Amino acid sequence: MPVANNTASAVSTSLPKWQLALVVGAPVALGLGYIYYKNANQSKSSRDNKGKKANGSGAGDKQISIDGDTTKKSDKPETPAALGHKYKLLGNQAFGTRKYDEAIYYYNLAIEHFPSNEEDELAKTYQNRAAAYDALENYSAVKEDCTKALELNPTYIKALLRRARVMEKTNNLEVALEDVTAACILERFMDQSTLLMADRVLKQLGKQHAQEYMIKRTPVMPSKHFIKTYFSSFRSDPTLNHKSTDDDNKGFSRVLEAFREQKYDDIIKICTEEIDQYDSIDISDKMKLLLMRGTFYLLLGQHDKAIDDLEMIISNEEADKDVRVNALIKRATMYMQVENPEKSFTDFDKAISINPDCGDIYHHRGQVNLLLDHVEEARADSKMALKLNPNVGIAFAQKCYTDYRFAAMSRSKSDVDKAMADFERAFELFPDCCECYTLYAQMLCDSQMYEKADLYFAKVIEKDPMNATIYVHRGLLQLQWTGNVEKAINYINKALKCDDKCEFGYETLGTIEVQRGNLTDAIELFDKALALARTALEVTHIFSLKDAAKAQLKVGKRLPKNSIFGIQGVS
Ligand SMILES: *[C@@H]1O[C@H](CO)[C@@H](O)[C@H](O)[C@H]1NC(C)=O
Ligand SMILES: *[C@@H]1O[C@H](CO)[C@@H](O)[C@H](O)[C@H]1NC(C)=O
Ligand SMILES: *[C@@H]1O[C@H](CO)[C@@H](O)[C@H](O)[C@H]1NC(C)=O
Ligand SMILES: *[C@@H]1O[C@H](CO)[C@@H](O)[C@H](O)[C@H]1NC(C)=O
Repeated sequence: MPVANNTASAVSTSLPKWQLALVVGAPVALGLGYIYYKNANQSKSSRDNKGKKANGSGAGDKQISIDGDTTKKSDKPETPAALGHKYKLLGNQAFGTRKYDEAIYYYNLAIEHFPSNEEDELAKTYQNRAAAYDALENYSAVKEDCTKALELNPTYIKALLRRARVMEKTNNLEVALEDVTAACILERFMDQSTLLMADRVLKQLGKQHAQEYMIKRTPVMPSKHFIKTYFSSFRSDPTLNHKSTDDDNKGFSRVLEAFREQKYDDIIKICTEEIDQYDSIDISDKMKLLLMRGTFYLLLGQHDKAIDDLEMIISNEEADKDVRVNALIKRATMYMQVENPEKSFTDFDKAISINPDCGDIYHHRGQVNLLLDHVEEARADSKMALKLNPNVGIAFAQKCYTDYRFAAMSRSKSDVDKAMADFERAFELFPDCCECYTLYAQMLCDSQMYEKADLYFAKVIEKDPMNATIYVHRGLLQLQWTGNVEKAINYINKALKCDDKCEFGYETLGTIEVQRGNLTDAIELFDKALALARTALEVTHIFSLKDAAKAQLKVGKRLPKNSIFGIQGVS
C-alpha cells in the first residue's frame, strides 16, 4: 500500500528532520530544524551563555513581563530623558501591582518625554506598554506598540514574541510565524519554548493552507508504477480476479481491458458509463465497478468521492464478501490519511467480522499499527497475515520487520540478532521480492548499519530500477551516514528521472535545500511536491515545510545582517 507506505517510511526512515524534531521535543518537522541542530552542536560555552540569557527573557515567563530599569540614575532630574525615566519607573511600579491603566498612563508620559535619540529606552517603554495592553486583552494596541518597539529595535526578542503571540491569538498566523522565526534566529534556536511555539504556529498554518488548497486542488493520477504496486498490495483483489462473462462488452470487462492496457485515466469514466448505462445492472458487476471507481478516486486523492463509492458497497449486505472486505480495507487506510485512527480500526474490525481469513486485512492493519508505533499490535497483525498468506514475500518481510522492531523496543540484543538472522531467510525463500530487500535495508538503517543498508538498497534498485522511492531512501541514507549532500541529491534526482511524479523526492530535495540555506529553491520544490500530494495529511506537512522556508526568507531580509545566523542565500 504505497499511499501509507510513503508516510510510514517518512516516519521510520530516521529523516534528519524527524530526528531534529525529536531533539526539539516536537512531533512535527520544523523546517528550521537544521539551524537549531547546527547551533546545538556548537561550543558548549556559547550554549551555556545562551541558556542563562534565555532565563528571564525566554518565551516561558514572558506572558506579562516588562523590561525594568537598567540605566543609571541621572543627576539632573529635570532633563527630558530623566523625566522619561521617572515615568517609566512609575509605570513599572503600577504594572507590578497590576494597575494596568495607571501603568499605561505613566508609560504614555514616559514616551512623551523621552527624546527620540533614546531609542532603546523608548523601545522598552513601548514594549512595557504593550505588556499592559496585553494584560487588558487590548490586542490591537499590543500589536501597535510592539510594532513601534520593533521599529526602534528590530532585534528585540521580547517584543517579537509578544507580537507573535497576539498575532497567533487573533489568527494572523503568517505574521506570527515570521515573528517567532525571527525570535528563534536571534535566540540561536536555543529556547525550547520559542521552538515549540514556532512548531505550533507552523502546524496551524499548514492546516489552514491545506484546507484552502484541498478545495481547489487538481487531482493528479500517480505514476503507472505506483498504481501497479498499489494493486499488488492486495492479495485477494476481487476486481482483478474477475472472470470474464460471455458478453465481453458489458459490465466490468471493459474496465479490465483499460486496466490491462494501463489506460488509467480512462477508468473512472468507463466505470461511470457502465454504472449509468443499465438500470438493472447485475449487482455483482455494479459492486465491482463501484470498487474500481472508488479505488481510482482514492488514488487521485478525491476522498469524498471515494468514500461515497466505498460506502455504497460496504452498506450493501448482498454484495460479494471479498468486494466488501476490500472496500473496508481501502476505507480504513483512507481514514488514517485524515488522521482518524478510530474509524480506521472500526473498518478493519468490520472486515474481519465479514471474513476473518483474509490476509490483506491484517497486512494493512499491521502497516497502520506500525505507523502509529503500536509495535506489538503490528507484530500480531503481521504474524497473522503471514499465516494466512504463507507464500507471499511482502507478508514475510513485514513479519520479520515487526519482529525486529519489537526486539529493538524491548532492548534485547539477542532478540535483535535473532530477528535479523531470521530476516535473512527471506532472500532464499523469496529471492525476487523487492519488499524483502527494502525492509531489510530499512532495518539496517534503524540499527545504524549504514554500509550494509546501502548494499541492500543497491540490490533492490537492481531488481526494480523504476521504483523512485528506493532512490530517495538511498539518498536519505547518504545524508544520515556520510552527510554527503551532493551524493544524496544525485540519488534523489535519479528518483525524479524514474518518476517525475515522485512527491517524496521533491519534498526531500526541498528539505535538503532548506538545510543548505537555499530557500528560494526549496520553496519551488515544495510547490512541485504540493501539486502531486494526494492526501490532506501530506499537503499539510508540505505546507508546514514551505511556510517555514518562506518565513526564514522574509525574516532574513528583515533582520539586520549582523544578527542573522545560519541563514545563507539571503542577501
Ligand atoms: C532561571 O534561573 C533561576 C535561578 O537563577 C533558576 O532557579 C531557574 O531554574 C531558571 N529557570 C530556567 C527556566 O532556566
Ligand atoms: C485599546 O487601546 C487603544 C489605545 O489606547 C484605545 O484607543 C482603544 O480604545 C482600546 N481598545 C479597547 C477595546 O479597549
Ligand atoms: C517501491 O518499493 C517499495 C519497497 O519495495 C514499496 O514499498 C513501494 O510501494 C514501491 N513503490 C512504488 C511506487 O512502486
Ligand atoms: C543552491 O542550489 C543550487 C542548485 O539549485 C546549487 O548550485 C547551489 O550550490 C546551492 N547553494 C548552496 C548555498 O548550497
